[in-house]
Amino acid sequence: MRLSEAKGAEIDTYLAIASKRDLRRYREEPLTAEAVERILQAGRVAGSGKNRQARRFIVLREAQADAAELVTRPGNVSGAALVVAIVVAKGSWSGFDAARVAQNMMLAAWNDGVASCPNAIADADGFVALLALTPEEEVAVLISFGLPARGFDPDTKTAEEWLEAADRVPLDELVEYR
Ligand SMILES: Cc1cc2nc3c(=O)[nH]c(=O)nc-3n(C[C@H](O)[C@H](O)[C@H](O)COP(=O)(O)O)c2cc1C
Repeated sequence: MRLSEAKGAEIDTYLAIASKRDLRRYREEPLTAEAVERILQAGRVAGSGKNRQARRFIVLREAQADAAELVTRPGNVSGAALVVAIVVAKGSWSGFDAARVAQNMMLAAWNDGVASCPNAIADADGFVALLALTPEEEVAVLISFGLPARGFDPDTKTAEEWLEAADRVPLDELVEYR
């Protein structure tokens, strides 16, 4: 069943995964409250080791401009309609857990036509100060969201065509069988 037959959603899951690109330029337009809610819910429901959920999401508002100076590409964060800092408790699985949150959020956004991009942290100490993190916490990644500046329609290709066009190592080089 295509997800479009389910409530609210628009893209087949496999097509969403295959067509997802990390876009960095967004329109100066706010996201709908529903889209923001769905992004945050998608992050909330992501699994974690032992279901510890040692994380919190900080939606940047007043802090957005200052946060932009603490990542590797400030323009992506300063020009986004929504920026979410994924804050995790430091630990061996925290990166994996954070990545699950991030990809869930980005795919839920994509499903609503909202583009996104992860932003690497350039100044971890700066984030501790800016967001008043505890010593046990760190920002794993900042995810920027926005309506794509140039438009982007996953339905212009099939999932197989998106996979073929993706700038990724081909499966026969990637996968080993032993
Ligand atoms: C952990 C992580 C950090 C990233 N940091 C940045 C970043 O700081 N700036 C940026 O422009 N893209 C960043 N990206 C996005 C990658 O560059 C992107 O995933 C890759 O180029 C593939 O892009 P595509 O899906 O559009 O082909 C990051 C991705 C990951 C997974």
